[in-house]
Amino acid sequence: MDKNLPVGVIDSGVGGLSVLKVLQKMLPHEDFLYIGDTARTPYGQRTEAEIRAFVREMTDYLNNAGIKLLVIACNTITVLGTESIKNGYAFDVVGMSKGAELALGTTKNKKIGVMATPFTVASGAHKAAVNVLDADAEVFAQGCPAFVPLVESGVFEGEPVAKAIAEYAAPLKAAGVDVVLLSCTHFPFIRPAIEAEFGEGVTVLDPAEATALQSRLYLERAGLLKLRGTGHADVCFTAELERAKAIAEHMLDMDRCSFRQISLK
Ligand code: DGL
Repeated sequence: MDKNLPVGVIDSGVGGLSVLKVLQKMLPHEDFLYIGDTARTPYGQRTEAEIRAFVREMTDYLNNAGIKLLVIACNTITVLGTESIKNGYAFDVVGMSKGAELALGTTKNKKIGVMATPFTVASGAHKAAVNVLDADAEVFAQGCPAFVPLVESGVFEGEPVAKAIAEYAAPLKAAGVDVVLLSCTHFPFIRPAIEAEFGEGVTVLDPAEATALQSRLYLERAGLLKLRGTGHADVCFTAELERAKAIAEHMLDMDRCSFRQISLK
């Protein structure tokens, strides 16, 4: 494996840019090749067979381009299982951290909220990851189907965002959670509005840093970490390049990125 190859990053759309931002901070010398499948977002209400077919197209594309590691910057794809996504490729696969250690290290009352896509919630993966570490912790997972379309349209605040957040936060507030995991990579775009809705007694957590740390550890151990040079991100979308690029401006250091549209077919 050539350490000069980029790290591949995939998501259903612009959400994974919230992870790419942290990856660029924690792995400053690495190049990244990002694919956001804006043509077919959101994935969170699709069937497993559909998501698997789309992921296969993205991973085949990255495999042909050449990458040294794949980071799945999407919880909905991650819960399919990283082993099945690795699928014989030469590169290894790091999925989104479930944030279990982070949540258990932060909660005082062991009542943990999870905001995610309906697909991720139905998988039960986050609850399982927490309960493997602490069987007494209670996990309340809330599907938030309205968030991804709002973020993909570049709407991060205002009436429709506040209304959707209030609706999804209500059951978590009623359950008395004191931490909330943002278990969809689109949600950090509306994090200030989510924090405002929950107020001071609730800590909102993003597992992007734990994911980037895991990626860094993997590269170090495999002898693939780049130690010199300024890394660059080649950011690709499968549709609506200008819209996606405008959203990226809210998240990324644009001087370290270039943007293009690709076709996966
Ligand atoms: N950003 C994704 C996640 O972390 C998926 C959103 C979607 O396409 O529904 O789950």
